[in-house]
Amino acid sequence: MEGYILEWLNLLGRWLHMITGIAWIGASFYFVWLDNHLLTPKDPADEARGVGGEVWSVHGGGFYHAQKYKVAPAKLPEPLHWFKWEAYTTWLSGMFLMVLMYWYGAEIYTIDPAVMALKKSTAVIIGMVTMAGGWIIYDLLCKSPLGRNDKRLGIVIALFVFVIAYLLCQVFSGRAAYIHFGAMLGTIMVANVFFIIIPGQTELVNATREGRVVDAVYGLRAKQRSVHNTYFTLPVLFVMISNHYAMTYGHEFNWLILIGITIAGALIRVYFVQHHFGRPSPITIVIAVFILLAIAAAIAPRSSGTSQAAEMTAAERFAQVKSVIDNRCNSCHAIVPTQPGFTAPPKGMIFETPQQIASQALLIHQQTVVTKAMPIGNLTQITEEERALVDKWYKDGANID
Ligand code: HEC
Repeated sequence: MEGYILEWLNLLGRWLHMITGIAWIGASFYFVWLDNHLLTPKDPADEARGVGGEVWSVHGGGFYHAQKYKVAPAKLPEPLHWFKWEAYTTWLSGMFLMVLMYWYGAEIYTIDPAVMALKKSTAVIIGMVTMAGGWIIYDLLCKSPLGRNDKRLGIVIALFVFVIAYLLCQVFSGRAAYIHFGAMLGTIMVANVFFIIIPGQTELVNATREGRVVDAVYGLRAKQRSVHNTYFTLPVLFVMISNHYAMTYGHEFNWLILIGITIAGALIRVYFVQHHFGRPSPITIVIAVFILLAIAAAIAPRSSGTSQAAEMTAAERFAQVKSVIDNRCNSCHAIVPTQPGFTAPPKGMIFETPQQIASQALLIHQQTVVTKAMPIGNLTQITEEERALVDKWYKDGANID
């Protein structure tokens, strides 16, 4: 029953995380789009009121007219809409999922003895330190003298997060390393909203209400942090879906793949940020596509060469494959799993009879040999020889008799 309840908490948490994440990133993309499409107002009266740009659009059966003020309207309008709860709820629901799956379920998802045989408590502490420490160091970097030079700051932050990506992949299962990396960036993004961007807006609103000049430092700081958030967005979104792609996190150079995809994601956003300053050059998109293609080519599966199992008959080989699957897979993939924490076969996949194995041969091969995603976290400690056996069996036609 406990496993079943956890499954529901997981479903609801993920659903909420997606909905709030779409609301947050959707709104932020929309405002970037607005900024990029502002035109000088047609009506001179608007300009006289301090309007710097306007956009007309049509959506959902109505016309919309958005105007952006150069600084602020003469009088504070009521009601004034803020956008912040989307970010906070995305973080809260994300942390809920993190605690539920990767900390509470650390033995299954986070600890991979082949990477490092961590104790559960150690794994959880590393996770927490990554979340809090990531923000603290990032924030100190921004506030240090380095923060006055956007380019130099950007390079140092990039190097810092790449080091974290590398280190996480040395202690956690690939899947958990990716998620912790993304969650650290996500935490930095939300903390930027909470500690920097929203206080900046509060100052803007207060100054407008009190009719005084806005302290420019707030605006500049908020701007710097929102640009960072923009660059973090696509890498974080990649990490959110990465657990479906074991070919990335399951690779021996998973940290390099993570860094490569992070760079590609940030470069794609560079193109949109440049939009703001006139003509963007597609060169950054071209480089991003090149990086992704290079990664795809580099991690393409290769045939594993010779195997000592070559001399066996098909029936002997299948008997061996069946025993590998019984030993390494079926503690989970059985009608009644024996693995603690599993109450039903994951994804409904059962490999107890030769027929079940034959009908899922493609997926078994893919998950065991190509991506090495299974056994999950290598909890059952499959060996490379056993993977090679599955590979040979599959390539010779996946016979079961
Ligand atoms: C400790 C439990 C456990 C063991 C052992 C295990 N699996 Fe899995 N398996 C899972 C879980 C959990 C999922 C669902 C993963 C997810 O949601 O991404 C899964 C999913 C799968 C899938 C479906 C993948 C997809 O994305 O459709 C296949 C195929 C699979 N496992 C094959 C295997 C094979 C083959 C073995 C043995 C070599 C194995 N598993 C061992 C837990 C396990």
